[in-house]
Amino acid sequence: MKILIINGPNLNLLGKREKSIYGKSSFEEYYSSLKNEFSDIEFEYYQSNVEGELINKLHEVGFNYEAIIMNAGAYTHTSIGIGDAIAGIETPAIEVHISNVYAREEYRHQSLMAKNCIGVIAGMGLNSYRLAILHFLSFLK
Ligand code: DQA
Repeated sequence: MKILIINGPNLNLLGKREKSIYGKSSFEEYYSSLKNEFSDIEFEYYQSNVEGELINKLHEVGFNYEAIIMNAGAYTHTSIGIGDAIAGIETPAIEVHISNVYAREEYRHQSLMAKNCIGVIAGMGLNSYRLAILHFLSFLK
C-alpha cells in the first residue's frame, strides 16, 4: 500500500513552533517512528508552505496512490483550491490536525476540504496521523 502524507504551511516548524499546542517532536522524528511501526507500507512524505505546490502534489499522486493523509494547516480553513483538488482526484484522503481545531479560534472551525475527505481526525496530537493510517489499513483491506 502506498500512502502519501502531506503537510501544509508552518508544519515544517513542528518541534520549534508553539510547542504547547503542537508538541516537542519534529515531524521527521515522528515520521521515522511511523515508518518503523508500519514497515509494510510504502510511505511518501511531502511538505510545502505554498498552496499551489500542495495542489500539484495532490494531482501527481491522486490517481495512483491508495491513500492520502493531509494536514493542510491554515489552508484547511481558506483554500477552495485544495478542497477542489481533493474532490477531483481518485485517491481517498483523510484530513488530520494535531490540535483540536474545534477548541480554538472560530476561524479554525471551518474546513473547506473536509467534505471531500473520507473523514477528519483532530486533536490527537501527532497520533492523529497514526490513527488515519490505522483507518486506511482496515478500510482498504
Ligand atoms: C493545524 C491547525 C490549523 O488551524 C493551523 O493553522 C495549523 C495546524 C493542526 O494540525 O492542528 O497550522 O492544522
